[in-house]
Amino acid sequence: MDPVQTEDVTDILGDVCTQSPYAYFDALRSHEPVHWNARHRAWLITSHAAVSEGLRNPKLLSNRMKKLRESLAPDKQATVGRTLRLLEDWMVFQDNPDHKRVRSVVQKAFTPQVVLRLEDDIRALAREQVALLRRRLQQEPGKPIDLLNEIAYEIPGPIICKMLGVPPEDRYQFIAWTEEVSSVIGGFADDPERYEKTHAAVTSLEAYLTTVIAQDRGGEGNLMAQLVAAEADGERLSRSEVIASGILLLFAGNRTTSCMIANGVRALASHPEQVALLRADPTRINAAVEEILRWESHTKATVRIVGEDFEWHGQQLRAGQRVFLSPLSANRDPAMFEDPARFDIGRPNAQRHIAFGTGVHLCLGMSLARLELRIFFAEMLDTLPHLQLVDPDGQWLSSIVSRVQRELWITARSS
Ligand code: HEM
Repeated sequence: MDPVQTEDVTDILGDVCTQSPYAYFDALRSHEPVHWNARHRAWLITSHAAVSEGLRNPKLLSNRMKKLRESLAPDKQATVGRTLRLLEDWMVFQDNPDHKRVRSVVQKAFTPQVVLRLEDDIRALAREQVALLRRRLQQEPGKPIDLLNEIAYEIPGPIICKMLGVPPEDRYQFIAWTEEVSSVIGGFADDPERYEKTHAAVTSLEAYLTTVIAQDRGGEGNLMAQLVAAEADGERLSRSEVIASGILLLFAGNRTTSCMIANGVRALASHPEQVALLRADPTRINAAVEEILRWESHTKATVRIVGEDFEWHGQQLRAGQRVFLSPLSANRDPAMFEDPARFDIGRPNAQRHIAFGTGVHLCLGMSLARLELRIFFAEMLDTLPHLQLVDPDGQWLSSIVSRVQRELWITARSS
């Protein structure tokens, strides 16, 4: 394969952010798995081995908000700086020792038992949404439905709100605030207006969650109240860390899983033979979910900052440089997965994907996400053969962080 030239990369990165990252990542991976992108002044890491190593390397730091905050003009420190300061308390943007301390406390409240208690609620919501989908497909077979925005968002959102003690009717407002916050997370947002909006959203979220904690609406202690009470190794969280953890859980627990539901429906609807295999043996649901997570991973890249100069895969990384590590590319690495572009629910090692990351920041909510995906797709088994994708190559979100189509339009398959 031809080496990827740096001057080509600048243009192709635009495509990575939108339509088709795979060809570009394939080329980089085979040529230079640790690659410097001159225009965006960032490293792109693409092989399974290098992404896994990088996510475990303590020289690659997660706290990029501090660097951003310190680079702000003095007049922005009071507003934008305060927002970034709050984001610094998100465990996903922390390094040790703070990360270990915060994660241990949150883990005490976010236990497997807490997740399992949600199973009936998840099933009820999935059934309701699948029944609604079927009804609409039957009543108006030719009318497209946006599965991402009309169906997928209606499952993880209410579940995480229930965990946190947020009443379901408030969740749209709550989610709108978190969407504002997401705009600064990719690290490409230089627009001051965006930061102003983010600041307003974070302030509203802080006020809202403070009330949730005070009211403990869950009765037997919602997750927010438990975060206040939880202690690990004698450590508790500060009020700001409790609020930040609540916002992070809502943010991480809603969007990512909804996107994976949509990516999974797209994968299955375009592979009817795999749907037939799954319907013939529904015990393969866990394997199917792992293959969905591998084949069309939501997380295109996670971001790190180089903490100190070091050499890696023949490249010299310098302190302060940005590093994009791509689970999506790692999960299509032929060195790990045979014929990686093939979607195959019988793949023996699909679970070796790193769609949930790896290392100290391994996704804290992966057991909840897996449960939601397994239940949703199990409930969808009889519906999947009747679905038709309206535009399988429709617009993808313009982002180097998330892989999802802006909308996933489906109709009833004409038989
Ligand atoms: C971290 C993916 C669902 C909570 C991560 C990371 C990835 C990821 C790749 C690592 C980020 C990094 O290394 O910088 C996903 C995917 C999901 C999903 C693909 C859905 C299919 C969830 C859910 C929750 C959640 C449902 C919670 C309710 C978190 C948290 C972290 C995290 C709190 C930060 C962990 C840490 O920094 O120690 N997730 N996630 N995620 N995820 Fe998820």
